[in-house]
Amino acid sequence: MRVLLVYAHPYPNSFNNAMLQACERGLKTSGHEVRIKDLYQENFDPVLRAEHLAELQRGVIPEKIAHEQEALLWADGIVFVYPLWWFDRPAILKGWFDHVLTNGTAFEYSPEGVKGLLPIKRALVLITAGGDEEYFRKTDAEHLIYRPVTDGTLAFCGIKHIKHRIYYNVPSLSDEQRQTILQEIEDLGRHFDA
Ligand SMILES: Cc1cc2nc3c(=O)[nH]c(=O)nc-3n(C[C@H](O)[C@H](O)[C@H](O)COP(=O)(O)O)c2cc1C
Repeated sequence: MRVLLVYAHPYPNSFNNAMLQACERGLKTSGHEVRIKDLYQENFDPVLRAEHLAELQRGVIPEKIAHEQEALLWADGIVFVYPLWWFDRPAILKGWFDHVLTNGTAFEYSPEGVKGLLPIKRALVLITAGGDEEYFRKTDAEHLIYRPVTDGTLAFCGIKHIKHRIYYNVPSLSDEQRQTILQEIEDLGRHFDA
């Protein structure tokens, strides 16, 4: 498959970066073609400004958005790697969605309701969190972490097979625990289309 890895962490030496590399290794081992979209390294401006929104609403795709959509539309598989920031994706990733998932390209309104249009078949969402798993389970808050992305965004745009993993307590993990997670992520990459 052609797999786009979308990465949203500002530090190149973060655990998120190690996760990105592990996933890339696994995907490549299985022969997938991989592209990385490193939003911070590309200095992506996430604010959807008035002039771009106005163009979109006139049915014109602005150059900046066409450029981002080229990477998205190249892929038939997609992976996201990001830390949980205030129960959500970092703003740079949220802004990327605001830009690329446009009406007419990612979804459309039809007489039968909203129709997802993305030709992407599979998605994997990898999220790190600072909080404890027990807290999220006890408060029944876990679904709030991933559903805005898995259901509210990716499934809405037509992606049928979506997996997610949340890694808790990341700042306090031992080296051994980190290695276990990285191995799991490499395996997820290796079996991406299974
Ligand atoms: C701006 C900001 C907001 C955060 N919000 C949350 C949060 O809502 N819930 C949580 O469990 N952790 C939160 N964290 C902690 C990060 O998720 C955690 O430090 C990160 O996933 C660890 O991965 P890293 O070592 O690759 O940065 C936040 C961290 C920052 C910097």
